[in-house]
Amino acid sequence: MQNTPCDASPKPGIIHYVLNGEVQSLEHVDTTRSLLNHLREDRCLTGTKEGCAEGDCGACTVVVGELRDGELQMRTVNACIQFMPSLDGKAVFTVEHLRQESGALHPVQQAMVDCHGSQCGFCTPGFVMSLWSLYLEHEHCGDPPGREQIRSALTGNLCRCTGYRPILDAGEQMFKLSPARFESHALKEKLEALKRNETLVYEHEGRRFFAPCSLQELARLRAENPGALLLAGGTDIGLWVTKQFREIGDMISIDQVPELKRIERDGQFLRIGSGVSLTDSFAAIVALYPQLKELWERFASKPIRNAGTLGGNVANGSPIGDSMPALVALGARVVLHGQRGSRTLALEDLYTGYMRKDMHADELVEAVLIPLPKAGWQMRTYKLSKRFDSDISAVCAAFSIRLDAGHVVDCRVVYGGMAATVKRASQCEKRLIGKSWTEDTLEQALVTLDEDYQPLSDMRASAHYRQQCAKNLLYRFYLETRQHQPLPEERIRVFAVAEEQP
Ligand SMILES: Cc1cc2nc3c(=O)[nH]c(=O)nc-3n(C[C@H](O)[C@H](O)[C@H](O)COP(=O)(O)OP(=O)(O)OC[C@H]3O[C@@H](n4cnc5c(N)ncnc54)[C@H](O)[C@@H]3O)c2cc1C
Ligand code: FES
Ligand code: FES
Repeated sequence: MQNTPCDASPKPGIIHYVLNGEVQSLEHVDTTRSLLNHLREDRCLTGTKEGCAEGDCGACTVVVGELRDGELQMRTVNACIQFMPSLDGKAVFTVEHLRQESGALHPVQQAMVDCHGSQCGFCTPGFVMSLWSLYLEHEHCGDPPGREQIRSALTGNLCRCTGYRPILDAGEQMFKLSPARFESHALKEKLEALKRNETLVYEHEGRRFFAPCSLQELARLRAENPGALLLAGGTDIGLWVTKQFREIGDMISIDQVPELKRIERDGQFLRIGSGVSLTDSFAAIVALYPQLKELWERFASKPIRNAGTLGGNVANGSPIGDSMPALVALGARVVLHGQRGSRTLALEDLYTGYMRKDMHADELVEAVLIPLPKAGWQMRTYKLSKRFDSDISAVCAAFSIRLDAGHVVDCRVVYGGMAATVKRASQCEKRLIGKSWTEDTLEQALVTLDEDYQPLSDMRASAHYRQQCAKNLLYRFYLETRQHQPLPEERIRVFAVAEEQP
């Protein structure tokens, strides 16, 4: 392993990144060497901690800076599941960077001290980095975040001893202390100088990491290296290494392909490139469909959403992936890109079986097309998981319906966690279309969910719980969208009894 300061422009075959303000060159490390292990073991920056090594606890939170359309973006990520070559051309900031030149603590750290936000201290650097990222977001606008925004910024950090109230207090207090400005100009210049015009080809012990700079180059590399694994944000793949100890061969990163990083909109669709982060994808989707805000905020945590991509969620195709039920309920389409060009299909048709897809070996997900809102449609999503934040769904439901004069003209009933793939409830939809949107129709439709799904029992939920919840959620959707019909007496009584119980 060689890690030296460097001021030159990027060299082929060598990883260049900025660490706490200094440009570094790196070679002779594994393609799957994690940023966390590199910081702690190769750089002796032990402020960044390892808790879970799977993106859950936030002890390893660092801030990564990168240029996007010429603007500096500073966001938290989990260092434990980021591979070193994917940091090429980016800047990493650890808790050690926060100490000011005078030796004084940064306002974020001082606020943690003042508010008694730390006990054993193991989680503290992670919390501090999440708060620092929030501090940077707000330092120029003069408008400090509210309690809810602070809470949301900390969804990726767990503390087992202090409790969260003092840490949230620190999130408010840090804006009341004498400010510490972050000098972004010099960093921008360094990142500009590290920008590559050609593919990074990094190799170590026979394993290669490619980071192409155009879609054409990506397609060429895929064709030439059919065995190479596509890497987007690494929030799924990272765990294959840290938890499953899988050997990963060659990888092709899509992170530097500009065509895949765009969000565009025409008269029909919002088009989200597959390399767009979950954070940016969700912001664009929520601007059109505000009713999806809660689902997206409950999708993983802020650092995971900063690193992970919408394309990665769709391409991974897990039956408990959270974006697919909502996207299918909205009628989203997926654009696949391969040697023969691009093709588009309805998202639900992409999934052919458990983790199986209608995608040829040379194809990749290029973009997701989301229809713009149409008059008359109502839509809701509901996620059930054991924890509110940062937890995988037991059941995730998404429903959309178009009513005309109280009749169902069209609808989409979609569930994740109920079958081997995210799946529409075709029998249930058939039972609803053309009928009046009433309690009676709904009762009949609920029965058909037993035909549509035979869910499994696993560590997240039993089959019975899933089946019952699926029905309850559809019933809730009905209650939220029905047009002023009183509930039948006996149903009101059932709810009243349930609510009286502790
Ligand atoms: C702590 C934690 C919490 C999580 N919580 C949630 C959650 O609440 N809900 C949820 O749905 N998921 C969750 N996830 C899973 C993960 O974050 C998402 O699936 C994410 O969207 C994956 O995107 P990525 O860019 O990181 O994909 P990667 O890990 O880079 O790739 C995932 C898979 O997709 C393939 N791939 C990636 N991009 C493309 C492409 N453009 N074309 C073809 N194939 C491609 C890769 O080869 C790989 O097989 C969580 C993960 C962690 C670690
Ligand atoms: S060590 Fe727990 S999130 Fe990285
Ligand atoms: S202070 Fe001990 S885990 Fe948070």
